[in-house]
Formats: sequence, structure tokens, C-alpha cells
Amino acid sequence: MDRSKSIEVDAARAICRIDGVDYPAVGLGTYRLTGPVCKEAVRSAMEAGYRIVDTATYYGNFEGVGEALRGEDRGLFYIISKVWPDKHSPVELRKDLELTLKQLQLDYLDAYLLHWPNSTIPIESTLATMEEFRREKKIRHIGLSNVTVNHLKRALEVGVPISWVQVEMHPYFCDARLLQFCREKFIAVQAWRPLDLGRILEDEMLGEMGAKYGKTACQIALRWIVQHGCVPLPGSQNKKHIRENLEIADFALSGIEMEAIDHRAFAGSRFRLGKERGFGFTDEFDFSYEQCWPHSSYQIGGRTSI
Ligand SMILES: NC(=O)c1ccc[n+]([C@@H]2O[C@H](COP(=O)([O-])OP(=O)(O)OC[C@H]3O[C@@H](n4cnc5c(N)ncnc54)[C@H](OP(=O)(O)O)[C@@H]3O)[C@@H](O)[C@H]2O)c1
Repeated sequence: MDRSKSIEVDAARAICRIDGVDYPAVGLGTYRLTGPVCKEAVRSAMEAGYRIVDTATYYGNFEGVGEALRGEDRGLFYIISKVWPDKHSPVELRKDLELTLKQLQLDYLDAYLLHWPNSTIPIESTLATMEEFRREKKIRHIGLSNVTVNHLKRALEVGVPISWVQVEMHPYFCDARLLQFCREKFIAVQAWRPLDLGRILEDEMLGEMGAKYGKTACQIALRWIVQHGCVPLPGSQNKKHIRENLEIADFALSGIEMEAIDHRAFAGSRFRLGKERGFGFTDEFDFSYEQCWPHSSYQIGGRTSI
């Protein structure tokens, strides 16, 4: 592994090394899990050996995640949260982080991500505030979610270190250009909806590959993501599935198998948000570079950032 990168996946061992500490490369997604169900799922995941947990203000489950973590050694876990796009102004962002930490009953987040881009708020001010949080040791790493290469190029201009992107990635869709760009920029990738909401289980091609290794189609999908150097975040409230999803370190897909899955994923279509979601954008993925975040003259540390 390249020691110069702060986050790197060792695909052979299905390990994600973050600042020199090894975590299993599969994290638990918690979307749609709330209250005691969420707490139970996170506890099951922790018992199975998971160390990375993904949540978000939008999921309304900080209490469940926080209760599952109570009494545990905080340093063993890598907790990711995401702030909704209507809270990207410096004041709202700070309020969101404070509420997040309070509800999770944590002193810091390991990663704090912008859940979706918001082109109406200058990215300079949002990222400068995220950087303040990092310096205040309230977050360890900064990330973006649901972005394209255009968004990333624009965000990187601000000069604030971006450690992660969290994007849709599963055997029916993968943004190959983004993966390549992230590799070049040493930005680590988290894969959301890695099992396409469980539909992967019925996939014939992956089922056949799985039969060869004594694995399910879902395990093949997760292994494919890890072999791309990414961290899948499968969601589950089923103990058996939670355990299975972690058991992907004892086999490897061949180059031909990887290519067969790539072939379909790279040609697939991503999930799109409908107008009715009221985000102020209908299709953020068609934003041109100029539209991602218009340039602003926001001052970072007294210095104009454009
Ligand atoms: N950044 C974003 O905008 C964004 C968007 C969507 C999701 N996410 C993150 O990504 C996580 C995962 O996404 P997701 O939950 O939407 O989709 P997913 O992980 O692709 O699918 C979850 C579904 O798969 C089933 N499942 C899990 N493991 C299985 C297995 N081994 N065999 C068969 N079925 C299995 C689960 O059912 P059981 O409970 O029965 O196992 C659940 O219904 C979320 O929880 C969230 O943390 C982020």
C-alpha cells in the first residue's frame, strides 16, 4: 500500500486503512433504519466486526446509532454523517454539526459529508466552515456526496482537503470517470446502495460467479466494489445479511469477472431525483463545470478564494 495516502483500501484483505488504522472495508449503511431497529442493526454489525457506520441528518436515526455506540471504545469506530443541502451556509452547517454530535452523543465525527451539492450556496464558504470544524477537531475528514468530476474539480479549487466522496455504485451503475479522477486525486470512494436495494441477490451473472466461490450474488457485488478500491456501505437489519456482507475477504474475483461486471455497470444509468424533491435542482448530474458552484468572492482566512 502507498503510505502517502491517508485513506486506502487493501482489496486483498478487504481492509480500509485510514491514517494508519485498519478497518474492515465494508461499512454499515443506516438509511431507513430508525429507533430500536437501527440500534439493533448497528449492534449486530459491531458484533460481527464492522467498524465503519454511515448515517446522515436526513435519516433521523442519530439516537439509534448513538445508543448502539454507547459504552464502546469510540476510537475503534469510524462514524460518517452527512449534512442536507439546505444547511450548507456557515451558520446552518455549524448548527447541523452541533446537533449531530449532540444527538449521537459524540465529541467528533470521523467524516462529515455534504449529502448533495447545493449550487446556491458558495462552495468556498461551505468548505471553509468544514475546514474550521477539522481544525477544531470536531471532524477528522471532509467529504462530498452525489458529485460528478465537474463538482470535484470545482470543489478542489477551494484548497480544502477532500478525503472522501460517497456516490452511487453497484453492478448496475458506476461512474467510471469519477473513479479514475478520485484515484488520481487520492480521494477515497464510498459506494452507496451497493446491492441496488437487495435486487442484486437475484442477478443471474453474479449468482453464477458466486456459485464458483461459495458466495451469494450480494457478496460478489461487495467484493467487486472493494476490488475497485472503494468502501461499500450495504444497509441491512438482518443479522445473517449483516454477517454475510462482511465475509468477502476470503476470495478474489478474476480480471475477467471484474471486467464482466464493469461492462454492465459502466453502461448503466444512475438513480435520478425527481423535481418533486424540491432541492432547487432537478438533475444535478448534468451540471456543467460552471453551474456546479458559481464562483464567489468569499474570503477564506482573509484571502479571496478565486
Ligand atoms: N449519499 C447518498 O445520497 C445515499 C443514498 C442512498 C444510500 N446511502 C447509504 O448507502 C447505504 C446503503 O444503501 P441502501 O440501504 O439504500 O441500499 P442497499 O444497501 O443496496 O440495499 C439494502 C437492501 O438490501 C438488503 N440486503 C442487504 N444485505 C443483503 C444480503 N446479504 N442479501 C440479501 N439482501 C440484502 C436489505 O434487506 P435486509 O435488511 O433484509 O438485509 C435492504 O433491503 C444506506 O443505508 C446509506 O447509508 C447514501
